[in-house]
Amino acid sequence: MTDTAGNSRPNPLGFTVFLTGLSGAGKSTLAQHLVTSIEEAHKRPVTLLDGDVVREMLSSGLTFSKSDRDLNIRRIGYVAAEVTRHGGICVCAAIAPYRASRDEARRRVERYGRFYEVHVSTPLTVCEQRDTKGLYARARRGEVKGFTGVDDPFEPPQAAELSIDTSRTKHSDAVQRIVERLRNDGLLL
Ligand code: ADX
Repeated sequence: MTDTAGNSRPNPLGFTVFLTGLSGAGKSTLAQHLVTSIEEAHKRPVTLLDGDVVREMLSSGLTFSKSDRDLNIRRIGYVAAEVTRHGGICVCAAIAPYRASRDEARRRVERYGRFYEVHVSTPLTVCEQRDTKGLYARARRGEVKGFTGVDDPFEPPQAAELSIDTSRTKHSDAVQRIVERLRNDGLLL
């Protein structure tokens, strides 16, 4: 890579921020704010892998069985690792309920750069109250089976780099906490 004066400079170190948490926890909103903040304040392009979009574009046809969820997260981890390998920034937002599949994504990414697991730890009661898509109500009525937090597990991270409860933290503060961490680690100027 060369700067405007033609001097070569090293590629920036790539990294991935992986937001994990229940449906309705605020992962997608937080991810969007984070992407905007990094792009505007730090002039670095960001690849966003949002669960709902990935399920439409990369994982259509997959169910919410354990093996399909694991495959979904493997695909996200693979793309995130590729972005990271090229010195890019990837923000992922997916429930990713199983610790082992999150750890697998971490291992893939860490071959090339840094991995930040952010537990969006908004409690189930709050997510269920929000119920933006009406899916919790349907799951409680038994119309949706295997819904995370209702009749399907969520294994909380044990050593996430950050944990953010969006019912107690404003989005702007949450983004600031993530950006500060990235700055302190020398990944953003
Ligand atoms: S993951 O488990 O494979 O990581 P992902 O993040 O892609 O899930 O998709 C979650 C979204 O799918 C939720 O926000 C919700 O809107 C929807 N959804 C549909 N069925 C389920 C289910 N059984 N469990 C959880 N989310 C579901």
